[in-house]
Amino acid sequence: MTRQNKSDIVFHVRRYNPEGNEKPYWQNYLVHTETGMTVLDGLMEIKESQDPTLNFRSSCGMGVCGSCGMLINGRPALACSTQILEITDRDLTIAPLPNFDIIKDLVPELTSLFIKHSSVYPYILNNEKDEMDRPTGEFYQDQQELIEYLQFSYCIKCGICMAACPTLSTDPEYLGPQALTQAYRYNRDSRDEGFNVRKEVVSDTNGVFKCHYAGECSNVCPKGVDPARAIQLLKRELVLDYLRMKKTKVKCKVCEKRNGSPKPEIPETT
Ligand code: SF4
Ligand code: FES
Repeated sequence: MTRQNKSDIVFHVRRYNPEGNEKPYWQNYLVHTETGMTVLDGLMEIKESQDPTLNFRSSCGMGVCGSCGMLINGRPALACSTQILEITDRDLTIAPLPNFDIIKDLVPELTSLFIKHSSVYPYILNNEKDEMDRPTGEFYQDQQELIEYLQFSYCIKCGICMAACPTLSTDPEYLGPQALTQAYRYNRDSRDEGFNVRKEVVSDTNGVFKCHYAGECSNVCPKGVDPARAIQLLKRELVLDYLRMKKTKVKCKVCEKRNGSPKPEIPETT
């Protein structure tokens, strides 16, 4: 494959069709690249004008839906958020996300991610069932309470942290950084009372104590979620609970409200 000029980049793409190929193989494409072009743009160009059989997944094109995760020059990343000329001036190697089965070419099978995610009860669990079913007012939360979990709520479930995790690469049963981070995110929410329910899952043999803090999950996360930090904080929460030293959460605002405490003032806008 001959490059005609400096802006021609060779895409080495790993191809695999489980129904037709015994094993994966590499295929090369030459893509004329301009400043601002992302890896996803390059793949679309290949699909539209060179090879319609190439498979990859994408939707939003702006780092929000989490569907275009792939291994780009050896690093898991979102194809739509990676500018080609910022990472290479010659060759680009693209493969599907590691630690997942492959559906076809660059399309990973993410079902295991979603099963693990749903296993940690990633939603508010509150004992005030009546109020949860038929709220009589807003669920008040102050700024400090929001900051406690805000960073961890930016997760877009792209699976990139899971692809970078060395523990998962040898132990597919491990819950992994995505699900554990979401367990911590909901535990820290002032409206939530589900710590004891999630504890059963995250402190199990495939849970949080399998993490040996390589930290790669946080290095690669495209949304700045910092799963490695969440996992260490979750471990701390569990140890303090075991030692009966975990602080009891201030009674949630829903319950306070139902018990007749004054409702917080909402400032008037001018
Ligand atoms: S924590 Fe980050 S890398 Fe992991 S799934 Fe969420 S957004 Fe993706
Ligand atoms: S296409 Fe949605 S995150 Fe890349």
